[in-house]
Amino acid sequence: MRSHYCGTTKDVPVGETVTVCGWVDRRRDHGGVIFLDMRDREGIVQVVFDPDTKEYFELADRVRSEYVLQITGRIRERAPETVNPAMATGHIEILGKELTILNEAAPPPFPLDAYQSVGEDVRLRYRFMDLRRDSMQQNMISRSRITSTIRRYLESAGFLDIETPVLTRATPEGARDYLVPSRTNASKFFALPQSPQLFKQLLMVSGFDRYYQIARCFRDEDLRADRQPEFTQIDLELSFTDESEVMRLTEDMVKQLFTDHLQVELADFPRMTWHEAMERFGSDKPDLRIDLELVSIDDLMVDVEFKVFSGPANDQNGRVAALRVPGGASISRKEIDDLTKYIGAYGARGLAWIKVNDLAAGVDGLQSPILKFMPEQTVAQLADRLQLADGDIVFFGADKRQVVNDSLGALRLKVAEMLGLVGAGWAPLWVVDFPMFEKTSAGGLTALHHPFTAPSCSVDELKAGPEKALSRAYDMVLNGSEIGGGSIRIHRQDMQKAVFDVLGITEEEADSKFGFLLSALKHGAPPHGGLAFGLDRLVMLMVGGQSIRDVIAFPKTQSAQCVMTDAPGEVSDQQLRDLSIRLRTADK
Ligand code: AMO
Ligand code: AMP
Repeated sequence: MRSHYCGTTKDVPVGETVTVCGWVDRRRDHGGVIFLDMRDREGIVQVVFDPDTKEYFELADRVRSEYVLQITGRIRERAPETVNPAMATGHIEILGKELTILNEAAPPPFPLDAYQSVGEDVRLRYRFMDLRRDSMQQNMISRSRITSTIRRYLESAGFLDIETPVLTRATPEGARDYLVPSRTNASKFFALPQSPQLFKQLLMVSGFDRYYQIARCFRDEDLRADRQPEFTQIDLELSFTDESEVMRLTEDMVKQLFTDHLQVELADFPRMTWHEAMERFGSDKPDLRIDLELVSIDDLMVDVEFKVFSGPANDQNGRVAALRVPGGASISRKEIDDLTKYIGAYGARGLAWIKVNDLAAGVDGLQSPILKFMPEQTVAQLADRLQLADGDIVFFGADKRQVVNDSLGALRLKVAEMLGLVGAGWAPLWVVDFPMFEKTSAGGLTALHHPFTAPSCSVDELKAGPEKALSRAYDMVLNGSEIGGGSIRIHRQDMQKAVFDVLGITEEEADSKFGFLLSALKHGAPPHGGLAFGLDRLVMLMVGGQSIRDVIAFPKTQSAQCVMTDAPGEVSDQQLRDLSIRLRTADK
């Protein structure tokens, strides 16, 4: 139907006749001539109809925004004063000769060029319109190109693309499962995979050696800007490998993506232990573009009369830490109150602070609600350790270690954003040496990564001190976002059983849930390991999106719904009966 895309007419020689198809982006009437901006995937071109072509001029007069047209015309140079440098095709236009209205269009529910003021609910309800916007088109095109590079990279490294089931059993990654009732097996349910973890391990046992899949994963968890209930992983697994090989291979892949798509050469990614990341940044995914760090001051606070500080300073599980923010003395009392509320969500019970107005004036040059509780000498030691300077504010956290890390870690990000302290560019890193387990609120232990991750110690050492055990897991972090995570796996049955044991999973439970895995480990499992990237997060960062919804064609809302198709939806009584399901709400 067409000879060129609207956007590619820029390369057509003047005088040539072209046929384009697309949507009317804008229609303007200028003293007897009609301008139609025609839009398609590749861009926009201006078409002019003048009254000489009477029939088509009248037709052009009738068209409205988003009508679908086919137009034939001649490429001509624009007069110098009408050249539009902001448009790729801005040096030419098409002099329209023929026009066919392929379809009319109802008035758009929102103007496509003024979307900022449009609520996301409306955008998602009319997603097919929202996706017509240039930024969304570019995002989806980038996503497609990025996945294509990834496929090529992995295939040339010998990876095989193998699909794994979507109707399966629970695959524990720490979220709730999406369940699908089985009609043919009454009262039984499939779970949608939270990741292909167990299947990819089985593929290693089967001898495929290198597997990858661009795999849809499903997790019923609280949603945020970087989380969707269904999302996509670049999932991979290798046999006869170790941490260094998996990390090198995946780091090289990300470097290549950045070279190919952003023309950015990333340097080698630094490595940081989980412990160091938590101590210095209060986070296991530190944003290294921000030059602010937590500093421990427990030793200085052991004897102070301020119980809020001396308590945690004397508690093995407590922490007292400071966050010095250069230039932060300009933060107002009202803003400090807001920040205090903000970190309350992370469990902080207060936010002590000191403003440095005039360091040379000693204590008199400081302003703070807590100075009265501290000997002058302690304040001097503090000033020395934190390298205080005029214009600083120092924030303090004192509580259980995790509360301090979580709250000051979040505060660090918030304040950096407030004061414009987030550096430009890209800050990737590897976080390594994670603990194997963390304590649950009920007092038990849970796997920090997943229960199939290998510890870096022996079975006996694991049994003797599971809280101390480190794992062979690694996370790739970029600009404060966890874009990928993986580990070397357990490939021996005795170790897998020991880990299940620590997690309080009984032998019967292990057999019923993971019997197939234990059996596979018995039948010649090679040493293996892998990693999965969050594709949506990676693409979001690469295109500069605000949310992963910007790079998913049809995402869910914050309440895990699709407002366009109205899913999840109700089903008929007959369907429920077929599935042997009776709804509780129907019992009321
Ligand atoms: P993990 O649970 O860390 O590891 O997931 C891997 C990556 O997937 C992304 N991700 C998400 N993206 C969007 N929405 C979500 N709800 C969501 N949850 C996770 C993150 C994360 O780094 N089987 C292991 C991988 C392995 O060990 O090989 C796994 O799934 O970017
Ligand atoms: P108070 O004596 O309770 O008014 O506290 C004095 C200052 O310490 C106030 O600025 C509080 O916000 C702050 N504060 C209270 N509890 C903590 C805590 N756990 N960590 C850090 N600062 C706190």
